[in-house]
Amino acid sequence: MLSLAALQCSLVLTGSRAASTSQRAATSMLTQDELKKMVGYKAVDDYVKSGMVVGLGTGSTAYFAVQRVGEKLKSDELKDIVAIPTSVRTKEQAEELGIPLTTLGTPESRFSKLDVAIDGADAVDPALNLIKGGGGALLREKMVEVQAKQFIVIVDESKLCDGLGPGFPLPVEITPFCW
Ligand code: A5P
Repeated sequence: MLSLAALQCSLVLTGSRAASTSQRAATSMLTQDELKKMVGYKAVDDYVKSGMVVGLGTGSTAYFAVQRVGEKLKSDELKDIVAIPTSVRTKEQAEELGIPLTTLGTPESRFSKLDVAIDGADAVDPALNLIKGGGGALLREKMVEVQAKQFIVIVDESKLCDGLGPGFPLPVEITPFCW
């Protein structure tokens, strides 16, 4: 479980709980993928600026944020971005889009801190505690996201819940370098 309250974190939400009546009518016509695209794009548009070191999350919602970073680099709306992916899957997507990548550095290196990281979540409770890891990027995503000055969590309404609990299986990660 990850506590957003402990991090410099914001929630970008779409769906009926976040919307006004007119927005609600509009968003109720959208598919879940379209909602994921809306939050992924909005997070990048609102929080990613040229020159930043950006953490790229993993999963079907973060996919759209990665896509948006690639689009904006290609159109020159964003420049001088360096990104740190949270999984092999995201690394491959970012490479295909031509997003310059790096990894977490040493404490002295330029890349030991990220300006912003953007990722989805599996469940979000009313106190903004999260369950993450359903996509399998367990330790790696937490190592990257905890280093971000700002962590933007992008979810559609289906991720909101009254309390975190065992509603779905979470993978257990065995990390060889911890042995
Ligand atoms: C990756 O391991 C996960 O933490 C995902 O960020 C989380 O499962 C959300 O994924 P979706 O956006 O695909 O629901």
